Amino acid sequence: MKVAVMAGDGIGPEIVAQAVKVLKALEPHGISMEMREGLVGAAAYDATGDPLPPESQELAAWCDAILFGSVGGFEYEHLGAKRPGQGLLRLRKDLELFANIRPASVFSELKDASPLRAEIIEGLDLVIVRELTGDLYFGQPRGICTKDNERVGYNTMVYAESEVERIAHVAFRTAMTRKRRVCSVDKANVLEAMQLWRETVEKVAREYPQVELTHMYVDAAAMMLVREPTRFDVMLTPNLFGDILSDVASMLSGSIGMIPSASIGGTKKGLYEPIHGSAPDIAGQNIANPVATILSAAMMLRLSLDCPQGAERIEKAVGAALAQGYRTADIARPGDKRVGTSEMGDAIAAAI
Ligand code: IPM
Ligand code: MG
Repeated sequence: MKVAVMAGDGIGPEIVAQAVKVLKALEPHGISMEMREGLVGAAAYDATGDPLPPESQELAAWCDAILFGSVGGFEYEHLGAKRPGQGLLRLRKDLELFANIRPASVFSELKDASPLRAEIIEGLDLVIVRELTGDLYFGQPRGICTKDNERVGYNTMVYAESEVERIAHVAFRTAMTRKRRVCSVDKANVLEAMQLWRETVEKVAREYPQVELTHMYVDAAAMMLVREPTRFDVMLTPNLFGDILSDVASMLSGSIGMIPSASIGGTKKGLYEPIHGSAPDIAGQNIANPVATILSAAMMLRLSLDCPQGAERIEKAVGAALAQGYRTADIARPGDKRVGTSEMGDAIAAAI
């Protein structure tokens, strides 16, 4: 099993180090992998002038899976195509990782950690299937120009039928392994691209008669995620709406530091990352929650490396560490064992 480790910026290196620690704890159980490190984001830009230098592209071609931290930093946002986030977006596009799977559930130990009342999130178990290589993120034309003596910024929301079809299939197949419900999120009341999205999802749905399909406008979906999140099973979303709604969904699980993600495409190769960003404000302080990254490593074992036993061991170990009372600051309540990033990693590795 060949794993490219790309820690990136901000809290990325601290949290990825914990996931690597946990993966190494699997070795005595006969699960081992070759890990090679690569630069991405601002770290890569500082070293090479490029947020995804050729060496990292080669690493991405070599590996079976990428374990990814986070990229970004305010002082780099003016760099245009060299912005740190472009390193991640190019990886997603180059590897055609068009499907982003973001599960949100609550560990029973954390039912009081969410800012929402416990009865609202009780039984929460949803998956956001976010389209990842289209939409406003990649649509052309895009840019900033001058028109009538002022600057104008523009982007294009565009989806081809084939792009909607392939992500819809991922959502319906995911639903078949779960409660068989798909809620497709769009803004078809305003946007043509979203009308096409809705029609195409309906067409694909006919191939999955056992799955119940509903549609929701994105504004209503945002409201419903907070009002009654347990009504969702699989949420199918375009790229931008999924970016936003998955941050909302993360707070249902207690903290954005808890939600892992898998980015996959037509092959086994995938990219695994926490859904949160680089959090420069808390970087280097050993207070970030490494659980989202550790759970991403579990998804990697399951989806790219054909090692479901390893994935289960990690997920159980996270549950065990939480049951023992270990909490990083974001999920701690009075009376908990409040620990730092590396101690949380130690506790989970020890539980393995
Ligand atoms: C995410 C992030 C990225 C995105 C950024 C870092 C480019 O917010 O993975 O959710 O917008 O997709
Ligand atoms: Mg995001």
